[in-house]
Amino acid sequence: MRAVFAALALTATCLTLPAAPAAASDNGLSIRPAMGWSSWSFVRRWPDETKMKAQADALVSSGLADKGYVYVNLDDFYQKCDSNGFVVDGYGRWAVDTAKFPSGIKALADYVHAKGLKFGFYVTPGIAKNAVTANKPIEGTSYHAQDIADTSQTHKNYNCKNMYRLKYSHPGAQAFINSWANQMASWGVDYLKIDGVDASTVADVEAWDKALRQTGRPINFALSNNLPIAQATTWKRLANSWRTQGDVECYCGSGPNGSGYPLTDWSHVVSRFNSAASWQQYAGPGGWNDYDSLQIGNGDQVGLTADQRRSHMTHWAMAASPLLLGTDLTALTSVDLAMLKNDRLIAVNQDGVAAQRVVNSGVNQVWRKREANGDYIIALYNTGTSGNSTVSVTWAQAGFTGPAAVTNLWSGASEGTVASSYSATLRPGETRLIRARPAGAATRYEAENATISQGAAESNHSGFSGTGFVNADNVAGSYVEFTVNAAEAGSRAVTIRYANGTSVNRPMAIAVNGTAVQTRDFPGTGDWDTWADATLTVSLNAGANTVRLTGTTANGGPNVDYLDVS
Ligand code: GCU
Repeated sequence: MRAVFAALALTATCLTLPAAPAAASDNGLSIRPAMGWSSWSFVRRWPDETKMKAQADALVSSGLADKGYVYVNLDDFYQKCDSNGFVVDGYGRWAVDTAKFPSGIKALADYVHAKGLKFGFYVTPGIAKNAVTANKPIEGTSYHAQDIADTSQTHKNYNCKNMYRLKYSHPGAQAFINSWANQMASWGVDYLKIDGVDASTVADVEAWDKALRQTGRPINFALSNNLPIAQATTWKRLANSWRTQGDVECYCGSGPNGSGYPLTDWSHVVSRFNSAASWQQYAGPGGWNDYDSLQIGNGDQVGLTADQRRSHMTHWAMAASPLLLGTDLTALTSVDLAMLKNDRLIAVNQDGVAAQRVVNSGVNQVWRKREANGDYIIALYNTGTSGNSTVSVTWAQAGFTGPAAVTNLWSGASEGTVASSYSATLRPGETRLIRARPAGAATRYEAENATISQGAAESNHSGFSGTGFVNADNVAGSYVEFTVNAAEAGSRAVTIRYANGTSVNRPMAIAVNGTAVQTRDFPGTGDWDTWADATLTVSLNAGANTVRLTGTTANGGPNVDYLDVS
């Protein structure tokens, strides 16, 4: 009997199968929101190679690149127009304006790459009228532009216009997009924004997704702009990010077409809050809601006060939006640079979790998210433009109960243990961002950060926490070993999160500090995207401990996402 009780205590299992989220693009890119700079907000319609290089230089010399801001994205207006629309190359693709880019796009991408950065580029759907008029050949095929263009319909385009729709029923249409994507890949493009996308252009987005994949080069695929939420799962399946609204720019600057400062205003920023509440459910590793460029870097002249700029950054971090700066990096102010380099804010953005709104009352808003390690991140905002407001949230609204240790994430200051609710009196446009760590919360150890013997960290299935999971080789003896820290010796509840997409049990031997504890069953979970929890109790020493999970059969262990230790 005693032996039976002991075995029961060790094998008490809790199996939970969460609902599968909408599937993200499986191109393997943008496991975390992209960070960098885009030419549209400040450089606007006048990009050229000198300006692009200067911004790339500044991304590095400012230290922003070291913080993860690595994309240098060339937006619209690198092309050349004549009175019939875009000037095209020999295969009907947009010709680059050589007055603006005399050395060509490849040379610019090479320059960007040599600085350790990545290069982004821009396109819109369709084929240019000039390609059709000249009936240009489609590269690598016997087809021509007139075979694939539907000259009865044009696409949205914000520059030279005159973009005909493509007849995707004709094989030459995909071949044309492939040839364009191949040219971009040969130039070293790492990120492609396709603008002018709407409900009528799903076939174009599909064609570009296929085209980018067949290049073999990893190219982050970003959709723009004001995408209809009704097709959210389609955008998520096909791309790594999608703009949920029109532009964040106010087009109220003193330059031509509203360019120049101010770049934006508070109403354009705060309108993203409602959008983020609706789109929250669609964000996750591999696919992000893009709330447009971040207008921080050049002080108040961008059109936002310092309080509003901190709220802008806070919201983009809470929403796990791409962080693509729109400002002039050659004229960064020290106040703004400190905002952009705040590691605690960047970590909130890169945790890969999009926050939910739990308070929306007048000017007061509160947003919350739970990070993979069990911490809660809570943002309180006074979104008004006059008067202070006291904004409050209970821990129950944030998603937990009991006391929590609070850290102010903008300042880094500890605010001690807070019993059950939190309030802040905020200036107009001001935010308070806190991390609340519930007392007794489990500590999470991500498998992708553990020691792997015969196996690899991967991210090609959905639903994992952190940046991936461990796929141990299909051999007996492959293992993942966690280093687990304990403040004091004693027994701990441990949860192993795993997926086994086969119907065959994948047992693993569990050893703590080199001593076998038990061999545990890890039965099928239905598929590789469905994760389950196996719980057990182990005895830890004070200080560092090793917990090794070793597959005992020729199949190796299941995929392992993390270990939670409470
Ligand atoms: C598939 C699956 C992997 C898994 C492997 C296995 O290849 O994609 O994630 O680890 O099977 O059988 O172990």
